[in-house]
Amino acid sequence: MKGVILAGGTGTRLKPFTKVLNKHLLPVGSHPMIHWPITKLKQAGITEILIVTNKNDVTDFQEIVGTGEEFGVHLSYTIQIDNGGGIADALYCAKEFVEDKFVVLLGDNLFDDDLGPYIEEFKNGQQKAKVFIKEVPDPERYGVAILDGNNHSILSIIEKPKATNSNYCVTGMYLYDKEVFELIELLEPSGRGEKEVTDLNNLYINSKSLKYEKLKKWWLDAGTHEALFKGNLHYYENQLEADKEHERQ
Ligand code: DAU
Repeated sequence: MKGVILAGGTGTRLKPFTKVLNKHLLPVGSHPMIHWPITKLKQAGITEILIVTNKNDVTDFQEIVGTGEEFGVHLSYTIQIDNGGGIADALYCAKEFVEDKFVVLLGDNLFDDDLGPYIEEFKNGQQKAKVFIKEVPDPERYGVAILDGNNHSILSIIEKPKATNSNYCVTGMYLYDKEVFELIELLEPSGRGEKEVTDLNNLYINSKSLKYEKLKKWWLDAGTHEALFKGNLHYYENQLEADKEHERQ
């Protein structure tokens, strides 16, 4: 399976840094943010990876992570013409790259879970689309999954609701097959002018073909100053733990 990392957008919530630097190149631990989704895909056995970003920033990515050799993967790049046109619009840029089933990561999402087993199961199964949810204290910041009474399925996803009874956020890992591009063609921009991944996933819900799974470990959307700070803390703590472990051996 191939992997796609979405790393465009305007990074508005991380201004002033994002006036001069793409959000995904800001530091998280001792690496630029983009390092983490690449290593997550590599850990899952995905070595053909497309990075979708915008025209102004693509050369910065090429300088920092290049062809992916240092990660043991092959990176290619494509440009989202309508930068900020939405996650589904960015995903559409992967149409020529993708062969069949594939994994999409939002470049500002940080996962501690090993994504490998989820990806493997999807690869071998009959499902068309799968999302991953996580309980959070501030669901209004995200796409929120409304589950049925038995938690068997997602009834709907609401993007950044003002109020909700569900604490389940839809995280930035999506598994699709190639049919997704036909569905993206049906989408209209939302009120905020974006082709929304939430609208896309609701199309799958309408045809009863969206599956979901709960993530078990730490997860973060690093797209705000506070979250970026938390992400840094988490990765430094992990590094300290790893260093201590190394000393003990
Ligand atoms: O983090 C999970 C959340 O991500 C989901 O729960 C929401 O449903 C989803 O809409 C998204 O919300 P955000 O407001 O956090 O999305 P953001 O604009 O930060 O974009 C997420 C990633 O997608 C980011 O890494 C950049 C990339 N992106 C975004 C847009 C709008 C693009 O590559 N191009 C774009 O046009």
